Amino acid sequence: MSCLRTTPPMENHFEFTYRSFDSIEELNAIDQNLVARAQLAMKNAYAPYSQFQVGASMLLQSGVIIEGNNQENIAYPSGLCAERVALFYAGANHSQDPILKICIVAQGDLTAVDSFVSPCGPCRQVMLESESRQKQPIEVLLVQKSGAVLVLNSVQNLLPFGFSK
Ligand code: THU
Repeated sequence: MSCLRTTPPMENHFEFTYRSFDSIEELNAIDQNLVARAQLAMKNAYAPYSQFQVGASMLLQSGVIIEGNNQENIAYPSGLCAERVALFYAGANHSQDPILKICIVAQGDLTAVDSFVSPCGPCRQVMLESESRQKQPIEVLLVQKSGAVLVLNSVQNLLPFGFSK
């Protein structure tokens, strides 16, 4: 019996489009306000161990804006990222109000995230489930250190092949 393939494997391709802005001032008023709220939230982060403060803000369909920030603990894994603080708050208190946008900002001295913060894997997973629960996409705004902003149309773009029902 031969192990040689007779047909080549199918090659598939994944790509997505995102928008980029050079500065926060280039955003529309709604998005600028969302960035300002995320920055405000970031100031109240409790991050004495990492010295890396993250803020998240979310615009709900009703117009309500929710804020979250990272909350750390001396027993390190007990803490939670800014995104999940905001997402779980929304799930607990505004579950019937779809999330239109989430904006993430960060400041700190982690050189690995010098340019901008991009959500960690578990946050992407939670964001993905929020999106699929509400059956409408969540726009993601990632604010870079320079003030430039990346805007993604859907969480799906951040987690292709994510675990889901
Ligand atoms: N962190 C967030 O809040 N969001 C992310 O997307 C990545 C990391 C927090 C967790 C921890 O408090 C600190 O940033 C350093 O990892």
